[in-house]
Amino acid sequence: MQLRDNGLRFSPITIVLHWLVAALLLSILGLEVAMARTAAQASSARLEPIQNLLGLMLFLISAYRFWARVSSPHPLPLGSPTPVQVIVSRSVATALALAMVLLPLAVWLSRAAAGVGIELPGGLMLPAPIGPSKPLKAVLDALFNIGATAFVAGLALHLFGAFRNHLVLKNQTLRRMLGKQVEL
Ligand code: HEM
Repeated sequence: MQLRDNGLRFSPITIVLHWLVAALLLSILGLEVAMARTAAQASSARLEPIQNLLGLMLFLISAYRFWARVSSPHPLPLGSPTPVQVIVSRSVATALALAMVLLPLAVWLSRAAAGVGIELPGGLMLPAPIGPSKPLKAVLDALFNIGATAFVAGLALHLFGAFRNHLVLKNQTLRRMLGKQVEL
């Protein structure tokens, strides 16, 4: 099995992890909405450890993915994009992978700075890397908000590119990311 991306194609690992990251992100956001909507404190408290576990998985998978992205070649683009389009789309994809490492990290640090523990299912607690500090929490929350805003803008651009390739330019870019073998 091809373990790393090369100039011709993404590895199956990249493809599986790409969609796993998208699913984890969607589940975390879905749980956030569910917890905001549920009035009962008890049900909200039941969902939070699950959300924390998904966040931990997102962080660990993304740390590997970011390393794999920057340490192996990005497969050649399909269709005939301009050099600027290639640079922008690759930079945005790499920044998205990095954001999925930094944003969960910021949440972990911010909760620790607030003196709040991160509970996982089964009553396990993530260790706090720093002690409580109000000023540090304010800085971390500001950084999180800036990062999250940039992430949403980058993701919108990424989705626009993916669907433009698929629906307007009608090339195989999206199908390749879904595992289809594509001849260059
Ligand atoms: C429905 C949602 C998504 C769609 C349709 C989509 C589509 C794609 C496509 C078509 C590619 C291949 C681009 C190429 O050939 O160069 C790609 C690559 C990539 N996407 Fe997405 N994407 C989605 C969600 C995400 C999310 C949520 C992230 C990260 C948070 C992400 C990060 C990346 C990265 C880093 C790459 C480069 C390959 C890699 O290293 O994994 N994508 N995406």
